[in-house]
Amino acid sequence: MEFILRQWRREDAADLAKYANNEKIARNLRDVFPYPYTLEDAQEFIDACLEKDSFLLFRAIEVDGRAAGSIALSREDGMYRPKAELGYWLAEEYWGRGIMTEAVRQICREGFSRWDIRRIYAEPYAHNSGSRRVLEKAGFTLEGTQRQSVFIWGEVCDSCIYALLREEASSLPA
Ligand SMILES: CC(C)(COP(=O)(O)OP(=O)(O)OC[C@H]1O[C@@H](n2cnc3c(N)ncnc32)[C@H](O)[C@@H]1OP(=O)(O)O)[C@@H](O)C(=O)NCCC(=O)NCCS
Repeated sequence: MEFILRQWRREDAADLAKYANNEKIARNLRDVFPYPYTLEDAQEFIDACLEKDSFLLFRAIEVDGRAAGSIALSREDGMYRPKAELGYWLAEEYWGRGIMTEAVRQICREGFSRWDIRRIYAEPYAHNSGSRRVLEKAGFTLEGTQRQSVFIWGEVCDSCIYALLREEASSLPA
């Protein structure tokens, strides 16, 4: 399945609001992700992506000519400067076609080449088998499960930590 990672554009707002407004997506993300997801939410998000911030790498996932998902790295500061956090979601109609696995590989390559970081990590909820599989296929290692670490949608859940080190990323197939 063809896709590209590119900068967000203001004209993506309508597609973003349409695809992001999905409870199955919101349930797997942090509670700052709005649900319902309005056009204003989309506009605010895109504005934030367009601000110059050397600690953030935000990309739209364009499929069939539309912004159909989001993937982002945010680099940390101070003593945590060797690491960056990864987050992503994709429009439901494109799930299961290998898009996110490849998008994760691409943004990790970009993050390691742009920044002097040593690790990229992600913290999916333990019950999010799809996201965990994406990370495993993209070469991440499960480092542990944080038991009862998050309160989301009215329930306490476990979350996992996965990470990819710079030297591991460079030994993955291109
Ligand atoms: C999780 C998500 C990003 C997966 O994207 P995707 O493009 O469908 O993933 P891929 O097609 O690259 O799938 C990679 C692997 O995961 C598996 N997988 C995908 N979704 C799955 C699911 N819901 N349950 C179990 N396995 C799943 C695929 O079968 C594939 O494994 P395989 O090659 O061994 O068959 C997408 O479902 C999504 O946006 N979910 C909601 C938001 C979310 O969970 N974001 C991550 C927060 S940490």
